[in-house]
Amino acid sequence: MENRGNWKSKIGFILAASGSAIGLGNIWRFPSTAGKNGGAIFVLAYIFAIIFVALPVLLAEAGLGRFTQLNPVGAFKKIAPQKKWYLIGFLGIISGVMILSYYSVIAGWTVAYFLKTASHTFSNINAADSENIFSAFLQNWKLQLFFFLIFLLMTAYIISRGIVSGIEKFSKVLMPVLFLLLILLVVFSLTLPGASKGLLFYLKPDISRLSFKLFLEALGQAFFSLSLGMGTMLTYGSYLKKDDNLASSCYYIAFFDTMIALLAGFMIFPAVFSYNMDPAAGPGLVFKTLPVIFSQMPLGTLFGSFFFLLLIIAALTSTISLLEVPVAFFIDEKKWSRKKSTLLFTGIAFLFGIPSALSGAVPFFSKLPLFDIDFISLWDKIWGNLSLGLGALLLAFFVAYIWKAHLAQKEIFIRESFFSKIWYVLIKYVAPVLILIIFLSNIFTQ
Ligand code: PHE
Repeated sequence: MENRGNWKSKIGFILAASGSAIGLGNIWRFPSTAGKNGGAIFVLAYIFAIIFVALPVLLAEAGLGRFTQLNPVGAFKKIAPQKKWYLIGFLGIISGVMILSYYSVIAGWTVAYFLKTASHTFSNINAADSENIFSAFLQNWKLQLFFFLIFLLMTAYIISRGIVSGIEKFSKVLMPVLFLLLILLVVFSLTLPGASKGLLFYLKPDISRLSFKLFLEALGQAFFSLSLGMGTMLTYGSYLKKDDNLASSCYYIAFFDTMIALLAGFMIFPAVFSYNMDPAAGPGLVFKTLPVIFSQMPLGTLFGSFFFLLLIIAALTSTISLLEVPVAFFIDEKKWSRKKSTLLFTGIAFLFGIPSALSGAVPFFSKLPLFDIDFISLWDKIWGNLSLGLGALLLAFFVAYIWKAHLAQKEIFIRESFFSKIWYVLIKYVAPVLILIIFLSNIFTQ
């Protein structure tokens, strides 16, 4: 049996888990979802979802992992043997591979955009040029498949080399650099003419946009961004040693992740309004807006290339966490070797990612019959939103009522405190109830 390995330090867990959390979810998905859902009102709903639902679930998920020191299926089996709860783990494994499939396609876009920026494609362009470049790129499915494959292979290479040396090394230095670069871009974006319209959109809530659907989107985004509801944080928690302070690590992770998402909004929206672009443009929003920013900014080619490079790395530390879940499962439960499991799941993710890579070029995938949306949006809705929400709901219920909240509390918190008491109430009564209400209200108000 292969050694599962441990994080070398508490900071190793914080960095790797933040590496998983911070990715395209913050910089690509957050601004486009906020833009589609009315801006500031979405931001409020999102912060609410993070504090009252996602953060308590993060503690629960990582706590379950550390307590059992197992993969998502094994963890449920250990606490409830002979019961069907381990199916939650299976749902997570499937979600992970499916998210990996389309996520890597978008990550492939960032690789292409890095090369475009570095080769001066974006010098002296305006908003219309940038939109044309993006549509032309979406039409080119061969190129997308190519970059998608490159990205998956990079992920597979790191995963096949094993946990500590693979993951820890990559996450350490680069996330703080991304943070600093984001701040620089925010400052530039805020100085653009007409930036204040973007700020208003982002900061002044329009109450009339409030709806159950908005809360569903905010909740889904919160789970997606914190990598919850599919066993990633459970798996990472399982590599933690017993004496690390789990709760405080999780506060850091949620804080960093939320900061990066909010900064991404401050970077995108002032520019979107300054260039008269459409904030509700959907998945293409960031890829249409950033090139114009880089084209107008002093030293834009340099900063732009560097930014996309960091985004590639941020996406990579997320995809490795997506692939690690099924791989760890096969190592633990099926006693497969790391290499063989990596090969299998990379293959599956590639096959399921093909329709996403074709989704801009092939009319069938651009507007799916029945759903009226493109394949990436559909896959993101099913796996990135609904399935993570369901996984998080079941996990919260499991921890609170099957494992039992007071036992979980002992695992997560070193001693009883104000926060440990609040967590107890949130995980038992608030988080599961809110997720359920939001799910049901969306079913009944369709
Ligand atoms: N949290 C990652 C991001 O924001 C995506 C992710 C989701 C990773 C679920 C793992 C599990 O980019």
